[in-house]
Amino acid sequence: MQQIPTQPSTPRPSPIGRWLSVLVALTLWTTAGLVIPLALPGCGVTEIPDSVFYPLRSNPLVYLDKAPASAPPAFPPPGKPEVSLKWLEDQGVPILNPDSLEKAPWGTEWREEVNTFLLSQFGTPAKPRVGTEGVDGFATIAKLSETLQLTPAVLERGSKQYRRLCLHCHGLGGEGAGATSGWLNPLPRDFRQGEFKFISTAEHKLESGFQPLKARPRREDILRTLHLGLEGTSMPSFGLLAREDVEALASYTLHLSIRGEVEYWALFYALRQDPETLKAVEKDPAKESRTRAIRFLSGALEWEDPEADVEDFVSKAKGSLLPAGMAKLLDRILREYAAADKNSILPMVDPYPSDQPTPAQSLANGLKIFQAQCVNCHAGYGRQSALRFDNWGGVVRPANLTVPVYKGGRRPVDLYYRIIRGIPPCGMPKANVQEGDPARQAWDLVRFLIALPYPDSLPSDIRQQIHGGAKQ
Ligand code: HEC
Ligand code: HEC
Repeated sequence: MQQIPTQPSTPRPSPIGRWLSVLVALTLWTTAGLVIPLALPGCGVTEIPDSVFYPLRSNPLVYLDKAPASAPPAFPPPGKPEVSLKWLEDQGVPILNPDSLEKAPWGTEWREEVNTFLLSQFGTPAKPRVGTEGVDGFATIAKLSETLQLTPAVLERGSKQYRRLCLHCHGLGGEGAGATSGWLNPLPRDFRQGEFKFISTAEHKLESGFQPLKARPRREDILRTLHLGLEGTSMPSFGLLAREDVEALASYTLHLSIRGEVEYWALFYALRQDPETLKAVEKDPAKESRTRAIRFLSGALEWEDPEADVEDFVSKAKGSLLPAGMAKLLDRILREYAAADKNSILPMVDPYPSDQPTPAQSLANGLKIFQAQCVNCHAGYGRQSALRFDNWGGVVRPANLTVPVYKGGRRPVDLYYRIIRGIPPCGMPKANVQEGDPARQAWDLVRFLIALPYPDSLPSDIRQQIHGGAKQ
């Protein structure tokens, strides 16, 4: 048996040796103190070699198509966000693990195709881009990238600023797992699902009448988040940066988000075990990879035209089907972002004069809607809200609305947006009031939310009900 040494194996230095090493350390320290600040400009953390790639996605994919049966028992312990995935798995929610792809005989090849596509279309942290010649439909993709300010020069600038300011929370590939992330609650956002919470658009039908476009953030929404931060969370404000840097950061956030979303769906179709996929695979197990690629491709083709002739596309496709599907998906996502401005929520003008107290009738109406539609999650006006799972498999608490802290902004219009769209990634549904609502219900609800934290601004009967005898 090997002896465990009780003494450090390096011999202790003699007293003279010790003094010498202190002297050397001091000299090095002083020299470093002089040299490092001189060397920093232009060669700090923001520089990154071409050989560094975005990390491959290895953490599980969560897909919640319906709310899980039970609520989470608590927030996961600090530094262990993955615990909440375990809670979901225990309830039978499928958690898809990309590492399990290696077990399938076709899995490694699938993974490689995904990586090759991502590298060719999105580049590296040092040379980020969106779309490269050679991909199917390049002309449209290139045009959309330009409209969305995703050109290589802007992205390169954004990438540098991102490494300086965002990486320690949001991670190199936008996976939300940077060095400081584990200790934060809420966790920094994983951008790679392409989902945003605080935006001013809602799903609208396409002119052609086909599937609605997914609600994407307008550029202004991301800029707002960057200028003001998300109040009540660790997401800071970057309002003091130069305008060009904030713009470049907004573009780079989109880059990471779009890249991550393409990767997410390409892996999702390889891993999903839903009955329909399993049935299709069963017909010819030797062709599992092709069957899955066709299902992925169909999803990417049919969003625009449910009658799309997938078989015809497959028979004419020259190369592999997976990259063709990823190119179609990229095109779709870019088009949705480009259409975001058209999908803006259009609030009707606030019907009440802003310099006068809100009429009691409006507050009473707002309270009525709140009690009918909101208290089941915002119990006790949010003071006693039960925890919920979000679409990332994390845990979130419906806001305590008796405290005037709003992540997505405190302007009345911000609350209006939250009500009209809901916060889908957290399971908050849109309110049952109409956009541009002639009955003023939306504004009654907003007015009620604004008054709610302040007992003095509520009529006495409502105040009594919400705050008891409290005054403010
Ligand atoms: C100290 C940690 C931290 C830093 C630094 C940070 N963020 Fe965040 N960020 C967060 C957290 C936490 C959230 C999620 C809050 C939530 O969902 O409740 C978030 C969310 C976001 C969102 C999502 C907004 C939405 O509508 O859903 C964007 C976009 C974002 N951050 C961009 C950035 C960018 C760009 C930078 C760097 C300029 C940055 N963040 C730096 C912690 C951070
Ligand atoms: C199914 C549950 C659910 C319902 C119903 C619900 N909410 Fe929420 N709400 C949430 C969750 C969860 C959050 C927290 C989101 C976060 O912190 O990221 C939230 C947050 C909010 C916020 C804070 C937004 C911010 O910027 O921080 C407001 C305001 C709000 N809800 C209003 C309402 C109103 C008004 C209704 C009724 C019309 C309603 N909610 C119904 C779950 C719900």
